[in-house]
Amino acid sequence: MADSALSIRTIDESEIRTFQDVMAWAFLATPDEDFKWLKVLELERAHAVFDGDEMIGTAGVLSREITVPGNHQVPVGAVTVVSVMPGHRRRGVASLLMKTQLHGMHENGEAIAILWASEGAIYRRFGYGEYASSLAMLTMPTRMAFHPGVRVSDTRIRQVSREEALPFMREVHDRVRRTRVGWVNRVDATWDVQLADRESDRGGLSSYRYALHPEGYVVFRVKYEGDSSGPRHELHVRELVCETEQAYVDLYRYVLDMDLAGAISFYTAWDDPILHMVDNPRKVRREATDGLWLRIVDVDRALPLRQYSSDVDSVLEVEDSFCPWNSGRWRFTVKNGEATVARTEDPADVTLDAAALGSAFLGGARLSVLKRAHRVVEHTPGHVDALTIAFLGAYYPHCPEVF
Ligand SMILES: CC(C)(COP(=O)(O)OP(=O)(O)OC[C@H]1O[C@@H](n2cnc3c(N)ncnc32)[C@H](O)[C@@H]1OP(=O)(O)O)[C@@H](O)C(=O)NCCC(=O)NCCS
Repeated sequence: MADSALSIRTIDESEIRTFQDVMAWAFLATPDEDFKWLKVLELERAHAVFDGDEMIGTAGVLSREITVPGNHQVPVGAVTVVSVMPGHRRRGVASLLMKTQLHGMHENGEAIAILWASEGAIYRRFGYGEYASSLAMLTMPTRMAFHPGVRVSDTRIRQVSREEALPFMREVHDRVRRTRVGWVNRVDATWDVQLADRESDRGGLSSYRYALHPEGYVVFRVKYEGDSSGPRHELHVRELVCETEQAYVDLYRYVLDMDLAGAISFYTAWDDPILHMVDNPRKVRREATDGLWLRIVDVDRALPLRQYSSDVDSVLEVEDSFCPWNSGRWRFTVKNGEATVARTEDPADVTLDAAALGSAFLGGARLSVLKRAHRVVEHTPGHVDALTIAFLGAYYPHCPEVF
């Protein structure tokens, strides 16, 4: 319940500096003249909470497109810069920001919202589902051999300047993101934010290196390591984006064969093909972490946005106290991959909350597993398994960037 002394509104240009300071203090960062996240902020979607005249909380929504199963690009509210000043926490400030954003999207906006969570215990209460996409932190030694069937082409890969790389990367990224479930589009300013390369962005590593293949690119930093036996640098891959499977193989080979490097690390898709490309998959260490958290803003608008893998006909009872317009029973029918959703009085086959539906929406978390976790209840035998198969896609959903 929000404190009655609190008020909320969007900010104007003159308040950006204060907005930035609140965010910085909340994230235990140092306020900075050039806080990179502000470059992508949309003022008309940037809310602040005030205690009297004092700004104490911030949150923004970025208007983006996300690729959903079926490779449709659909509008999504990308929630960012959620922060509350220390000393004003646990009195409902974040709840007020969340409610305002979701009401806004419900009335005049996107049918789904996504975010990255700084901590795992914050967002489920607001109806965001965990593991809507996941990330794998891969670490591997360099110079690993590929499995005999993996062919590396003789295409020349060129390391080039940032200026030369960027126009090519933008084009490749914009084509590739349309084919990858969970990827979001980038506006011009996103490139400055995502590939920010000031000294303070580098965490002690080198500046970014850019290597281009005619059908893809790789961006990485170098962490300088080694001892008296010689250099054993680590390559930290930031992104590896390819239009063809051949380019993916070639670019992986390029980084694996980098002289003076001993190891590679890469935050990538959970099902990154490298595990199956190398001759010794156990040498690739893989640690899982959650990626996107996804919120179904409107059940009836959201579910038909994507394609499904098989036909189903189930009555879903949705529990959603935070966005009560979603609560109740919905008949969810898929024919030839296309879904229709309509209110019904028929008895429920399956009961689940909005967060569970959000976790499953992109084909990330399986409803069958959520059932075993007591997050989904089956009333009519067989419906959860049928829904699980319908929601799954060919690949794990993946979002390669934190916004
Ligand atoms: C996370 C943050 C925004 C929460 O703000 P807040 O105003 O304290 O949140 P609220 O008071 O609205 O909390 C609502 C509920 O969530 C719970 N909650 C909030 N933050 C939590 C956290 N970090 N861990 C566990 N529970 C949390 C509260 O206890 C409260 O529970 P209740 O409804 O049972 O009382 C704030 O702590 C913060 O700014 N943290 C640092 C920056 C950050 O991590 N931002 C999130 C970026 S993704």
